[in-house]
Amino acid sequence: MFEQEKEIISIDIPDLTPEQFQRFASLIHDITGIYLKEHKITLLSNRLRKRLRELKLKDYDQYYYYLTKSDKSNTEMIHFLEVVTTNESYFWRTPQNFEAYKKIILPELLKLYKIKLRIWSAGCSTGEEPYNIVIESIEAMKDLGYFVFEVIATDISKRVIEFAKEGCYSGRKIEKIPPTILKRYFRQNPYDPEIYCVREDIKSKVIFKIENLFEPTIENAHVIFCRNVMIYFQKKEQQKLAMEFYNRLMPNGYLLIGHAESLQMLDTPFQVMHTEYGTIYKKIS
Ligand SMILES: C[S@@+](CC[C@H](N)C(=O)[O-])C[C@H]1O[C@@H](n2cnc3c(N)ncnc32)[C@H](O)[C@@H]1O
Repeated sequence: MFEQEKEIISIDIPDLTPEQFQRFASLIHDITGIYLKEHKITLLSNRLRKRLRELKLKDYDQYYYYLTKSDKSNTEMIHFLEVVTTNESYFWRTPQNFEAYKKIILPELLKLYKIKLRIWSAGCSTGEEPYNIVIESIEAMKDLGYFVFEVIATDISKRVIEFAKEGCYSGRKIEKIPPTILKRYFRQNPYDPEIYCVREDIKSKVIFKIENLFEPTIENAHVIFCRNVMIYFQKKEQQKLAMEFYNRLMPNGYLLIGHAESLQMLDTPFQVMHTEYGTIYKKIS
C-alpha cells in the first residue's frame, strides 16, 4: 500500500525540469548567496513538492509565480527559505575554535577593551553555537576574571531562530558536550529525560535576530563566528561577506570560520594567523 502511494505521489508531481531548477536556483542564489549545484535537482524537487502539496498547487511554475508575484509571496518566502537552507548544528562542534577564542582571542581583547565585548554568531542555526559561546565565555572567566559580554545570533531562517529561542536539545545535538558542562549549564526536562534545556541565565545572554547575512545590521563586533555557512556560497559571495565582516569588526577583532572553510583564496585585509588551534583571522587596527 505504502509503495503504491509513493508511486502515485511521484507521478502526480514529477521532478523539476533543468530549466525550472535553474530558475529556483538563481532565486535562491540572489536572496541567500547559496549556490545549488545541478545534482541537487532531486533534493530540491522533493523539498518543493511538499510546499506544492501544502498549497494545493499543481506544478512548479505555479509555485514560482506564487512565491515571486502573488500577494502571498512574503509569507511563502519564509517557508521557501526553510526548504533551501541546511541547518545542521550541534554543541561542541570544532572545539578548537573555542580553544582559540578562550586562549588567544579573549586574553588579547580583554587587555585592549574594557567595554562590553560583542560576539556575533552569524548563521547561528538552531542556537547551539551562540549558547556554546556563552558557556565558553563563562568558563574562560575562571582564568581571565569577570568580563561583560553579549552574543548576537542571526540566521535567515525563522524556524531555526524560533527553535533556538526555546533552547532545548536532545540526541546528536548534545552528545559531544562534556558531562560536567551538561550538568552545570543545562536542565534536564523532568517529563522527558532525553531533552536538556539551556539554563535561563545562559539564554538571557543571547539576542536572536532573523537577518540575511547580505543585509547585516550588526556593527562593532569584537569577534565573529561564521562557521559552516560560507561553504554554501561561491567565491564572489564569500568575498563580499568576508569584507562585510571585516568592516563590522572592531580594530583587533577576530573572525572564526569552519574547519572546511578558508579565506586564503579571497582578497581581504585580514591577518591570517596559523595557531595551534587552527587558522584564525584578525582585523589589523
Ligand atoms: C550549517 S548551518 C551552521 C550553523 C552553525 N554556524 C554551526 O556551525 O553549527 C548554516 C546556517 O546558515 C544559515 N544561512 C545560510 N545562508 C544565510 C544567509 N544568507 N543569511 C543568514 N543565514 C544564512 C542557514 O539558515 C543555516 O542555519
